[in-house]
Amino acid sequence: MQECPPNDPHRCAFYAYTEEGDHMGFHYDTSYYKDRRWTLLVGFKDDSSSRLLCHLHTKNPDREIEKLELKMTPGMLVLFNGDKVYHSVSPVKAGETRYVVSMQFVTSGEMNPFIRFISNMKDAVGYFGLRGVFGAGQRKPDAKAAR
Ligand SMILES: [Fe+2]
Repeated sequence: MQECPPNDPHRCAFYAYTEEGDHMGFHYDTSYYKDRRWTLLVGFKDDSSSRLLCHLHTKNPDREIEKLELKMTPGMLVLFNGDKVYHSVSPVKAGETRYVVSMQFVTSGEMNPFIRFISNMKDAVGYFGLRGVFGAGQRKPDAKAAR
C-alpha cells in the first residue's frame, strides 16, 4: 500500500460535522485507480450521537449483509477496502459535533486521465452540488451592494 498521489484531495481530509443534520449518505469509496483503494478513518473528537454505519458483504451474494454502527472515539482507527464496504455517517443533532480524519491509501497510484476527470467531477458534485460546480442558479450580486 502507498499514499494516494499528492493531487488527490482524498489523500488526507479533515471532516467536521458541526451543523445540525450534517451527515454523509451511503456510498462506497470507489477506487478509480488501477487497483484497490483503502480508507483509514481516525477518530479525532466526537460529542455526538452520530455513527459510522457500515454494511459488510453487500457485493457477496453468498453472505448475509452484516450491519455495524460505530462511534468514532478519539484515536479509534477504522480501515477498510472502499470498494467493498457500503457506509455512511448518520446526522448529528443540534449542538453536537463530530470530527474525523480520513486518509486514503492505494495499491497503485496509476489512473487513466479520463477516469481521473470522471472521479474529480464526481467529487466536485458530491461536495458542492450541481449548482456549485456548474453555476446554475447562482444569484448575481445585488446592484445596490455592487456600487
Ligand atoms: Fe466514504
